[in-house]
Amino acid sequence: MIMAFFGVPVVAVLLLGLAAAASAQLSATFYDASCPSALATIKSGVTAAVSKEPRMGASLLRLHFHDCFVQGCDASVLLAETANFTGEQTAFPSPNVNSIRGLDVIDGIKAQVEAVCAQTVSCADILAVAARDSIVALGGASYTVPLGRRDSSSASLSEANRDLPPPTSDLADLVGNFSRKGLSVTDMVALSGAHTIGQAACTNFRSRIYGETNINAAYAASLQGNCPRSGGDGNLAPLDVSTPNALDNAYYGNLVSQRGLLHSDQQLLNGGPTDALVRTYASSAAQFSTDFSLGMVNMGNIGVLTGAQGQVRLNCAKVN
Ligand code: HEM
Repeated sequence: MIMAFFGVPVVAVLLLGLAAAASAQLSATFYDASCPSALATIKSGVTAAVSKEPRMGASLLRLHFHDCFVQGCDASVLLAETANFTGEQTAFPSPNVNSIRGLDVIDGIKAQVEAVCAQTVSCADILAVAARDSIVALGGASYTVPLGRRDSSSASLSEANRDLPPPTSDLADLVGNFSRKGLSVTDMVALSGAHTIGQAACTNFRSRIYGETNINAAYAASLQGNCPRSGGDGNLAPLDVSTPNALDNAYYGNLVSQRGLLHSDQQLLNGGPTDALVRTYASSAAQFSTDFSLGMVNMGNIGVLTGAQGQVRLNCAKVN
């Protein structure tokens, strides 16, 4: 037998390595035996919420992103702040506080899932599936969601403040931010296409519409009407001025005509290395759709807890 260092057989080392890899592996069929109605239950909850309010699809998609970028996709974002527990929901200035939405919708879906299969389906998986179902409800392409994530028993406000990208980010910041999560530049540009739905508050685009030059003048003027130089911080504008409630590639066409709402959006097409990819997505809905789905699966794999790690929370807002 070939011996590795310290006399441990190579075969044993290889097997251990395989076991570690297998436990970190998600699987699309994870709930097929333990909770066959899980996916249909989540889908009906999402479909109902999005038909009541289309923006909710955007809010649910963003929740999954904000979950995955802090401690990995472990539902840490859902843990509520209490007198003796600091959560991520107060992350400031822009990422979470007064901004994330849809916690009540997830709680409602979780209650329905618990009613059909007690303590089986994790909140982290519910977020991942709800993001996909939101995309589909708003006209985006479907994709298979790998499952088997477990929920954390902790949250990290400091990591939320550090790792959720602010709208003031330049291109190099965005590339670095995504790369620290193991995501490529292509993932970053494709996932930014999520800003084809949903809304942003005046406070997040004010400096762009009054101070920047790489913005279409008529577009800036129209935004200024509802976002004064001072006051109106919470006034909303659609992230995609062309088709605000459709998960399509119009976001990239907006960038080509300098109608990106956030400073960080327009950074993707500003004479730099990602210009070409933005133009590709602007002209090819199919290419965008393929890369966006891949990006969502890659994002959904960040730092997942699997196997015996973590827990399946009974209530997404509280540790068991
Ligand atoms: C590339 C770096 C990103 C930055 C700097 C960024 C920043 C922001 C900001 C500032 C808002 C507006 C929040 C508010 O005013 O309340 C927003 C909204 C949104 N973001 Fe991002 N984001 C980024 C990437 C992503 C990614 C990767 C996704 C999902 C895959 C995403 C999905 C969304 C959605 C759907 C909304 C609208 C939410 C709603 O209407 O409730 N964002 N983002």
